[in-house]
Amino acid sequence: MPDVVQRGLEDVVALESKICFIDGHKGRLIYRGYDIRELAEHSTFEETAYLLWYGRLPTGPQLADLTHRLAALRTLPPRVVELVDRMPADSNPMDVLRTAVSALAIFEPGELRPGPSSIGGAQRLTAVLPTILGQFHRRRAGLPPLEPKPSWSHAAYLLYALLDREGSALETRAIDVALILHADHELNASTFAARVTASTLSDLYSAVTSAVGTLKGPLHGGANEQVMRLLAEIDSVDRVETVIKSKLAAHERIMGFGHRVYKVEDPRATILREWSRKIGEAKHDLHYFELLRKVEEIVHREKGLYPNVDFYSGSIYALLGIPHDLFTPIFASSRIAGWTAHVLEEYDDLRLIRPTARYVGSTDLSYVDVGRRP
Ligand code: CMC
Repeated sequence: MPDVVQRGLEDVVALESKICFIDGHKGRLIYRGYDIRELAEHSTFEETAYLLWYGRLPTGPQLADLTHRLAALRTLPPRVVELVDRMPADSNPMDVLRTAVSALAIFEPGELRPGPSSIGGAQRLTAVLPTILGQFHRRRAGLPPLEPKPSWSHAAYLLYALLDREGSALETRAIDVALILHADHELNASTFAARVTASTLSDLYSAVTSAVGTLKGPLHGGANEQVMRLLAEIDSVDRVETVIKSKLAAHERIMGFGHRVYKVEDPRATILREWSRKIGEAKHDLHYFELLRKVEEIVHREKGLYPNVDFYSGSIYALLGIPHDLFTPIFASSRIAGWTAHVLEEYDDLRLIRPTARYVGSTDLSYVDVGRRP
């Protein structure tokens, strides 16, 4: 029996994967052999999803086919629409997403009901997450009902579902880049949760339900919303130093900083910083960007920490007019590609994931009848 406890499974290599590589010391992120900087510059979410699922970049016809297929799979079964419509308007959208994905497994019509290891299921879930979010958000905001927009990309449809307007080319590209950057990240907590579920030979929808619940936490995907709370609390550049120092003195975590794997700057933060500036300039509003830059300077000076993917993303979404509680669901609408690619890989090379714990409790107590207990 090994005697070393790796709390949080830190530095434990749990499995082999061909999907994603992170070099935490050099600040590199690779999907299936391609550097994230190249993908963010040249690719689209659909192409990146194809790469993650099939292990290679698509040809033109393959990409057109996938884009068409995702758009054709956007419609929810009426029973799921009904369920989402019954959710209280103040529900957390991540709770809505988790519940709707779980319900979808029950209400999918026969022709869409996927096999346990089906790539069709991966594409169906990817296509439908923006619809679930749009269905919920538009009803609570009193916006007109969703139309499927069959010729629109995943990024354009997601933006429309959340805003009720067509994004400009720059806005849509900003979302597309954010979707590419968030699409996978090796064995992050939510992907691990999905693989643990799949490793019991449970189905894809159950694995994604586990993943959505895990992404919700503020130490994972929930950090982007918390960054916006921090900016609201700080309010002006001249207060950054005081607020950050007092939080650090109180041993509070500054959201959007630090990472289990990256020891240098997260390459996704580098790209999103540039997009935060670009969108700020386009909107003639650099308030968030200036605050974020100052926070970054002070946190790095005081703690030596670098920003992660969640630090700049919220400022981009907020400037597009997206409500803060939809930021983590946007993350999910991208990471779904990675979750499902990992689940399919797990099914292909299955080994039940079941670590052990070192027991530190008692072993020699004698049972006392309930009436005689002190
Ligand atoms: N603010 C202040 N101090 C921090 C932070 C932070 N954000 N992150 C790490 N530290 C400190 C921590 O207090 C500890 O200091 P000390 O050794 O003096 O006690 C040291 O750095 C090491 O921290 P750790 O908790 O052992 O590191 P970890 O690998 O467990 O943490 C983390 C990784 C992401 C949970 C952590 O950095 C954190 O809580 N960050 C804030 C939440 C956040 O931004 N999450 C998004 C992560 S990236 C995207 C994603 O996964 O969704």
